[in-house]
Amino acid sequence: MSQLLIRGGRPLEGEVSIQGSKNSVLPILAATLLIRGQVELERCPRLRDVEASIRILRSLGCEARWEGDRLMVDASVLGDWSISDSLMREMRSSVVFLGAILARCGKALCSMPGGCELGPRPIDLHLAGLRALGAEIVEDGGVLRCEAPHLRGREIVLATPSVGATENLMLAGCGAEGETVISNAAREPEIVDLQEFLNACGAEVRGAGTGTVRIAGGKALHGGTYPVMPDRIVAATYLCAAASAGGEVFLRDARSADLSAVTAVLEECGCAVTSDNAGIRCVSRGRIRAASPIRTAPYPGFPTDAQAVLMAALLRANGTTIFEENLFENRYRHVEELVRMGADIRVSGRVAVVTGVERLHGAAVECTDLRGGAALCVAALAAEGETRVGNLRHIDRGYEDLRRDLGNLGAEIVREEARA
Ligand code: EPZ
Repeated sequence: MSQLLIRGGRPLEGEVSIQGSKNSVLPILAATLLIRGQVELERCPRLRDVEASIRILRSLGCEARWEGDRLMVDASVLGDWSISDSLMREMRSSVVFLGAILARCGKALCSMPGGCELGPRPIDLHLAGLRALGAEIVEDGGVLRCEAPHLRGREIVLATPSVGATENLMLAGCGAEGETVISNAAREPEIVDLQEFLNACGAEVRGAGTGTVRIAGGKALHGGTYPVMPDRIVAATYLCAAASAGGEVFLRDARSADLSAVTAVLEECGCAVTSDNAGIRCVSRGRIRAASPIRTAPYPGFPTDAQAVLMAALLRANGTTIFEENLFENRYRHVEELVRMGADIRVSGRVAVVTGVERLHGAAVECTDLRGGAALCVAALAAEGETRVGNLRHIDRGYEDLRRDLGNLGAEIVREEARA
């Protein structure tokens, strides 16, 4: 099995460029299905989930090829409207292809998306929204048979501001007749990026970033070039790495506006965070302080995706920090692994109480999920001795090259690949 070997105790110094955003590019790749013409995605991250999306696109008949960090996709000709069960299971966000296939083909056939290590992740809001736009969807033994010869725009009020449901309905709305209004829409920066991409290709979408997104459907979309936004969770990970190990890092291209909930906490803990158009700088000297309670919430609240990496940064803080995870039922699986490294964390339901310890020590640990895996690396940077982080397939879903980036920041980190 591949593993990362990290020797902690060395402050980070240096600069890294932040990769393109996973959670932005996945719905954008689904959106390419709406476009007749070539799309060129700049700063497209090379990740397991992106490769899975490419396999889905190719299975539908699209052309997709890499040119460096640019991904070219051409969906001018589609040969299929179904996604196989094995492709659907590869990643949870495969469900966002549903709205796009329906908009383009008027029908779709796929299975329920893959199970998830974060706990139950229903898609009821996706399906209810698509039905409201006129899709007939039959769920049959885990298979979704969808027919929508005429999608019609209307207002859809989401019971909760789901990121994926907002994206799915934006894509379906592009293929609907008339205006689709999504109320209580998710406001994440990735929703704004999807809107910008669609509009760059000729769509008429407004309101992303607010609770109401309006899509004027029926526009013919054309190809174009689009730069994917920088990944705010990767940036949050490296900020937390600097807080954990100490030192001074510069994250080129990171956008401070997307990260204010995270940087506010780091500043409260004693880090100096500054930013300009080029990126974000974080300086951390000495032991950091515990933070006021962290409650995860939809954007602009504290991101659930940064909960684990922040927790890892606070393991040696002076004092106690309380975390409340409000998005997912099972997002503390990293805790057991962090405890192996000497962390003092008590979990009760959705609350985790982290009491800073003097020392962490290296251990053999396993990634339990994507961000939890990154958190183990953040903690390892501050631990005495060597930490072996295994089960890297989770990290590879969302980080282009964690070893390269932390190595560029001066960490002692080596990746051992599994023997074939
Ligand atoms: C997106 O997942 C992200 N994934 C997740 O990132 C992120 O943790 C999450 O948003 C929250 O910010 C991608 O963008 C690919 P949701 P998504 O629908 O869209 C409930 C990472 O580490 N809900 O906003 O699946 C749901 O159970 C990942 O990069 C329903 O009840 O999240 C959850 O409690 C993991 N019914 C809440 O809404 C639905 O139909 C928010 O989920 C849909 C969601």
